[in-house]
Amino acid sequence: MSEAEFVTVAKVGDIPEGQGASYVVGEKVVGLFHHGGVYYAINDLCPHMGASLSDGHVENGVVTCPWHGWRFQISDGTWCDNRRIKTESYEVRVVGDEIRVRVTP
Ligand code: FES
Repeated sequence: MSEAEFVTVAKVGDIPEGQGASYVVGEKVVGLFHHGGVYYAINDLCPHMGASLSDGHVENGVVTCPWHGWRFQISDGTWCDNRRIKTESYEVRVVGDEIRVRVTP
């Protein structure tokens, strides 16, 4: 896949360790998380009622929705209460001090 598909959304240092932030990329809102020194991206909109998951608490690789507590694995979007269901997750690359995300159409 080509590097051109990656979009720069933030700079290293913009998101403190243990926190998330949301960015609009094309028609998606991406929740980008900084956890354990690694960046992860999933669809920011909670599939329950659309809360911003990047406002949620992250612990052990899992974000808890700030509204009603649904929990998602930030590495691949798996819904912790039913592991057969996933929200979208996106590839992340750090190039220099740029954090880039590849959002599939
Ligand atoms: S909106 Fe996320 S759990 Fe309800």
